Amino acid sequence: MANYTGCELLHKCDPSLSRSEYGNLDETFRITTRPERRRGFVNIRLSLAKRRDAPAIAYMARTLIEDGLPWSWNETRVARCLANPDCVVITAQDGNRLVGFAVMQFYDDRAHLSLLAVKPGYQRKGIGRALLDWLNASARTAGTFLVHLEVRAGNETAKAFYKRLGFREAGARRGYYGGHEDAVRMACDLSLNAASSAI
Ligand SMILES: CC(C)(COP(=O)(O)OP(=O)(O)OC[C@H]1O[C@@H](n2cnc3c(N)ncnc32)[C@H](O)[C@@H]1OP(=O)(O)O)[C@@H](O)C(=O)NCCC(=O)NCCS
Repeated sequence: MANYTGCELLHKCDPSLSRSEYGNLDETFRITTRPERRRGFVNIRLSLAKRRDAPAIAYMARTLIEDGLPWSWNETRVARCLANPDCVVITAQDGNRLVGFAVMQFYDDRAHLSLLAVKPGYQRKGIGRALLDWLNASARTAGTFLVHLEVRAGNETAKAFYKRLGFREAGARRGYYGGHEDAVRMACDLSLNAASSAI
């Protein structure tokens, strides 16, 4: 298994592959977060999620993203996404431990970042950035340069994270989370941003 920084990871993408071909690749990369900027040093493996990851992903979605909201990303929905060729689900693992994941859905003219989370204790080590780099690389490979997402209006950490990675606020969605909370829509034009946020 090769070692890559988040930046080098991008260059592993083969532009000749269609998104679905890229999404079906089952190659594993090792991300070494930059030790000089991080507390601690972790080797994190990024890979395409497997069906067996669905329960852990759903649990993380419930506890880290949908806390206090009706649970919409249950195991069945995650499994459906895993089986959908227009959806890419990736995981970050420390050994056998799932420490992060992200879900991106692809449409004709845009991609939607549905979920992204990193376990407490592993945050601020560059893992979220590496996950997003991978998905943005998938989008570029597919010729998709517009990425949207919704984030809970009160989630200041996530808003700061996405802004740092090139997203801008693009409007409010009132009552987006089943009427329990508003969302902020954020958008990123990948054609305007550097090839990798890690650069
Ligand atoms: C948002 C989240 C995914 C970020 O993941 P992460 O691995 O901690 O992020 P990174 O270490 O890659 O951070 C990249 C940059 O984002 C910004 N950032 C990340 N966390 C931040 C925070 N708590 N406050 C301010 N800026 C932050 C920083 O600029 C950071 O770069 P730096 O560490 O060099 O300063 C993580 O906090 C998380 O899982 N939160 C709970 C779930 C969630 O809210 N998901 C998003 C909604 S779907």
